Amino acid sequence: MKWGTIVTALAPLLVVSAHAEGDAIRGEAHFKECAACHKLEAGANEVGPSLHGIFSRKAGQLADFRYSPAMRRSGVTWTAETLDKYTADPQAFIPANRMPYAGMSNASDRADLIAYLQKAAQ
Ligand code: HEC
Repeated sequence: MKWGTIVTALAPLLVVSAHAEGDAIRGEAHFKECAACHKLEAGANEVGPSLHGIFSRKAGQLADFRYSPAMRRSGVTWTAETLDKYTADPQAFIPANRMPYAGMSNASDRADLIAYLQKAAQ
């Protein structure tokens, strides 16, 4: 077998492993825990603020949602990493914020959820 053939055969495996961090399809099911309060459409604030465009947004910045002072002053920028920490334990990551959610304890469930948000909240 020629090198080119081997590389072509392996390339899809490399792509799969690069995305092994989180599974967006499983993540969509985990988002049900958030969907009671959050929508992904722009401007759709419910009990919680819209999560549309959440990645690289600063916390507490939507003009038409009333955030807690703790959220507005947190200085957090939302990334995969900060979303992971906040979702794991909201009160530990931003003390006194007003999100009534206890946390998603399983790290691989959170990775799946974040993979889903990266696709669906853009
Ligand atoms: C019972 C309602 C409720 C549930 C369930 C809930 N949230 Fe929230 N969320 C809120 C509220 C209310 C706020 C605003 C908190 C504040 O201002 O202190 C918020 C804020 C946020 C923010 C900050 C948004 C911004 O604009 O800075 C993120 C991110 C977030 N939630 C993600 C999630 C995720 C992910 C889940 C599911 C794992 C979830 N939330 C579950 C009500 C909820």
